[in-house]
Amino acid sequence: MSNRLPVDRVVDEAGQATWRPSPGGLVTALQPVMRAEDGVWVGWAGVAGEEVEPFEADGISILPVALSEQELQEYYEGFSNDTLWPLYHDVIAQPSYHREWWDSYVRVNRRFADAAAGAAAPGAVVWVHDYQLQLVPAMLREVRPDLVIGFFNHIPFPPYGIYSQLPWRRQIIDGLLGADVIGFQRVADAGNFSRAVRRLKGYETRGPIIEVPIDTDDPESGSHRHVTTNRHGGLVRTVLARAFPISIDAEAYQELARRPAIQERAREIREELGNPETIMLGVDRLDYTKGIGHRLKAFGELLRDGRLDVEKVTLVQVASPSRERVETYRQLRDEIELTVGRINGDYATLGHTAVAYLHHGYPKEEMVALYLAADVMLVTALRDGMNLVAKEYVATRVDEDGVLVLSEFAGASDELRQALLINPHDIEGLKDAMLQAIAMPKRDRVRRMRALRKKVLTNDVARWSASFLEALTRSAHGDHPLQDA
Ligand code: F6P
Repeated sequence: MSNRLPVDRVVDEAGQATWRPSPGGLVTALQPVMRAEDGVWVGWAGVAGEEVEPFEADGISILPVALSEQELQEYYEGFSNDTLWPLYHDVIAQPSYHREWWDSYVRVNRRFADAAAGAAAPGAVVWVHDYQLQLVPAMLREVRPDLVIGFFNHIPFPPYGIYSQLPWRRQIIDGLLGADVIGFQRVADAGNFSRAVRRLKGYETRGPIIEVPIDTDDPESGSHRHVTTNRHGGLVRTVLARAFPISIDAEAYQELARRPAIQERAREIREELGNPETIMLGVDRLDYTKGIGHRLKAFGELLRDGRLDVEKVTLVQVASPSRERVETYRQLRDEIELTVGRINGDYATLGHTAVAYLHHGYPKEEMVALYLAADVMLVTALRDGMNLVAKEYVATRVDEDGVLVLSEFAGASDELRQALLINPHDIEGLKDAMLQAIAMPKRDRVRRMRALRKKVLTNDVARWSASFLEALTRSAHGDHPLQDA
């Protein structure tokens, strides 16, 4: 289950609608298992105010959940992306708290839970994804205690001092604790969640295990898994909450990077940019969590101070459109485009652009060509659950060249230690890291890239989903989840 289905609707010239797989790695990782297990994907079809009938896509049954235009505004744009998103990303932007948005979030979560409850076979495994659906685990457990329920949070889980702002902080914790296994990107996220559970619910935790007291008057209490007696003699069910860092289909990126046509396209990109000595690249959804403004500020100052020469260095910034009806995103777009315009106005020459700014999404092939063309990849997120762009860049560099500058506030920095790690708030430090990346000798670049590639190629998305599902399946067989820690 995920807010968005893994397919996008495309309407051809004759007005005929068809479904095309969306480019994400999640579906690639889950497709084999979904096919083998006769799985159903429950999600929103991406258009408001329309009922879409269940259908098949690439061997997976798709069960669309409808959202009205008002629910799109209140549940998706409102509570998911203007309350939870800024709150969970350390309040980089101010979250809005509106009771009607919360009511809509509850209603839509209930609709998702009902859809899954109606589709799941007895004892089935249900895997719920992301912050839009945090109430689903408990809602599902209530009506279908036979199910094995997993939840994975793709974005950060904030420290308690921030999380506690949320007026519905207890309800969300109760919603999540309906799962048997709760996965987070980073060890720190799992720790923040356990702390919130202790502070708000007073439940005990032992390492990654959370003890949720069972209401013994509840006739269903006997059907819970992992029922055990805690040290005070109370009946509890145990929930596993730990880190499962997500990854990408690394092999698919490598395969594309080895294609001669894509390597040729990478050369063409360099040429189109006037063959600068160095190409720096940023690739992000146009989101305020990504630190695009900080990156531009650092780059602009380096040009201003003559530490970089516009004839020699170009920054390519791909900013794919995102959540364009949410006001904070509109403001961000204006700010970024003003900054890009200023930098180009001040420093570009007729023959050399300072910032090549592209407000589009591109197919994977073009992204791989861009990664291959880029000498330096800039990932300067202020807060990011994982940041898969960092992993895509590494997987693409089959030539073992290229330098990754990576924010320590992105989950990827836990694994990708051989990147140039930066604090994006420290503009001087960021500038120094950019210069260090540009000047890095080939020997050092290769040494770092080799180590990074080993990490990404070993820990790919198939391994991620297999390890999460293994923890869940063990949970189905009643294994004590402590062994998974
Ligand atoms: O992981 C963050 C996330 O919100 C995903 O749930 C989603 O697939 C992606 O970012 C893009 O966001 P949206 O679905 O709001 O366009």
